[in-house]
Amino acid sequence: MTSPAATAPESRTFTTIGVIGLGTMGAGIAEVFARTGYAVVGVEKDTDALDRGRQYLEHSTTRAVKREKMTEAEQAELLGRITFSTSMDDLAAADLVVEAVVESLETKKALFRQLDAIVGPDTILATNTSSLSVTEISTANSSPGRVIGVHFFNPAPVQQLVEIVRTVVTEDQVLEDVKTLMADLGKTPVVCGDKAGFIANTLLFGYLNHAVSMYEGRYATREDIDAAMRFGCGYPMGPLALLDLIGLDTAYEILETMYRQGRDRLHAPSPILKQMVTAGWLGRKTGRGFYTYEAPDSPTVV
Ligand code: 3HC
Repeated sequence: MTSPAATAPESRTFTTIGVIGLGTMGAGIAEVFARTGYAVVGVEKDTDALDRGRQYLEHSTTRAVKREKMTEAEQAELLGRITFSTSMDDLAAADLVVEAVVESLETKKALFRQLDAIVGPDTILATNTSSLSVTEISTANSSPGRVIGVHFFNPAPVQQLVEIVRTVVTEDQVLEDVKTLMADLGKTPVVCGDKAGFIANTLLFGYLNHAVSMYEGRYATREDIDAAMRFGCGYPMGPLALLDLIGLDTAYEILETMYRQGRDRLHAPSPILKQMVTAGWLGRKTGRGFYTYEAPDSPTVV
């Protein structure tokens, strides 16, 4: 018996990209797409969050203008490609939606469920989760084959890497289209399976957590721990400064999820991390973490 010839799936053309959540990562991701010329629809849950996202984008692109990486006219064009909205319905024309909201499985699943009734059948749905199960998120949508992980790194406009996470049901063409799109953004995509932490965070967070334990045990000062890795190993930032950049709340959530899944002692969050999160010391975004910063989100240590 012969089977009918399969029609080769066609690759997609991307014009409009939706980004849900304009926090540090979402705003950075929106900037990357807009910089490459895509129309971006950025969605936030309320006007305050939307204003913060807009400010983040203005701040980041103004920095590029000051460094003469972009003219003021190019900045205006880039920002002009982004539509800001508090309504998910504005994602109707998106060819790809990237979700970058808080690391809550329930919140993410609710969004992927909601997207069913908003976007067209060919729209790819991507999550920027750093540690949750992409497979579990995908089950909330009626077409899990079009769901994929695209994990950007912080700061998204700068870091070259994007981890593309394929689940057992992600369609081959969806993977190929997303790989091509990431390359078009000037990123270096790597592909991996769906396991908490993927490649980079699995390797990175044991190290970061160990640095926190050293600091907590007063084994060395924060400056010396960071200097050891910068000047001894050539890392661009020491581990404690990097945790401040990532956000201690985000780092805590990632460690917790990886620990729950793998039960590797390396990932059991150091107690002081939880205490700092409870105290509201979340790193650069609140002006205080392992270091104190001039202003929230400022890279300048005081
Ligand atoms: N947004 C946009 N651009 C930024 C930026 C930001 N927040 N911070 C820095 N930049 C740009 C600068 O404008 C500058 O651009 P240019 O070279 O075109 O002029 C360039 O980055 C270098 O910046 P600076 O000269 O101010 O400072 P540094 O040379 O010290 O670089 C850094 C800053 C890029 C943050 C660098 O220290 C670095 O790469 N650190 C490591 C970051 C890292 O490891 N990230 C991964 C974290 S893990 C993660 O994200 C996973 C997630 O799941 C938690």
